Amino acid sequence: MRRTFLCRFVKLLAITAAAALALSAHALLSRAKPKPRALSAEEYRLIAPETYEYVLNQPAACGPAAPFLVLMVPVGPLETAAREAVRSTWGAPGRDTLTLFYLGLPEGGRDSSAQRALEEESSARGDIIQADFRDTYQNLTIKTMLMMSWLATHCPNASYVMKVDADSFVNVAHLLGRLRRAPGRSFITGSVIRDGRPRRDRRSKWRVSEEQYPDGRFPPYVSGAGYVFSGDLAARISRASRFVRVIPLEDVYVGLCLRVLGVQPVYSLGLPTFRNLFEVRHLDYDRCAFARLVLANGFRPRQLLRMWRDFSRGRGRC
Ligand SMILES: *[C@@H]1O[C@H](CO)[C@@H](O)[C@H](O)[C@H]1NC(C)=O
Ligand SMILES: *[C@@H]1O[C@H](CO)[C@@H](O)[C@H](O)[C@H]1NC(C)=O
Repeated sequence: MRRTFLCRFVKLLAITAAAALALSAHALLSRAKPKPRALSAEEYRLIAPETYEYVLNQPAACGPAAPFLVLMVPVGPLETAAREAVRSTWGAPGRDTLTLFYLGLPEGGRDSSAQRALEEESSARGDIIQADFRDTYQNLTIKTMLMMSWLATHCPNASYVMKVDADSFVNVAHLLGRLRRAPGRSFITGSVIRDGRPRRDRRSKWRVSEEQYPDGRFPPYVSGAGYVFSGDLAARISRASRFVRVIPLEDVYVGLCLRVLGVQPVYSLGLPTFRNLFEVRHLDYDRCAFARLVLANGFRPRQLLRMWRDFSRGRGRC
């Protein structure tokens, strides 16, 4: 009698302990990865690709044999000099790369003289993709997500994509070499930010309100100045955005989509120095230092042209 009671008691204890353990494990897991909830149609509308129309498009740019690396450059409609500089430096047509510029509508809209100039530039160059949203800083998240949707639709077989700002220096040869050994799926790399927190200060350019994003921390994300990902992620990030409310920080937004997908961004370190290959800051140009990294940024078009002339001639002697 006594023994069965003890037995039952021990069994009960074991069951309770197991339940408690399961519960806390569940709590831990759900904190690490909150269960995604689909946005309402109203919440999703702002970044839904269906909301926008292409004004200028290059649907066949990727061609039948998809490029190894697509360089996607978000740029303002009026930044003609920046586009020219990119076209004649790291964005020049290459065997393995394709460079495309992504923009919204200029101030003044479709009937402006800026728009006419863009149309001329587009027919001369064939590398401009433009959708009908206002091209403003706050709308960069819209631009990034339209870029993902464009890739998923018109270039689904590209091996890798780099999203990179026009004021950057990109060491394409070094990047291509690194990518030959990179994972082909679920891969995203750049300057990884692990301890990001929302700024609540009303005067900050990067402000995110508590209403937009109540959480006190951001998940890991890659700095928006320049990052590289495997082609499969374009469609997956695009689909994940149905679960993530828009915030005006485009790089954090992509990080939030990655969390939904369970994909971790990875650092890119150079050997043997373990130096970050994506230097998201302005560095003084030094040929041999730049030969060992993938990205530096904050350059004006004329600086970029001057640096590139030296770099393409002398890189091999470093
Ligand atoms: C973003 O673009 C949409 C669509 O063109 C526009 O209605 C909205 O005013 C823009 N937002 C900002 C802050 O520029
Ligand atoms: C992408 O590759 C798949 C499989 O190789 C092929 O069936 C499809 O037609 C390709 N898509 C494009 C747009 O090239």
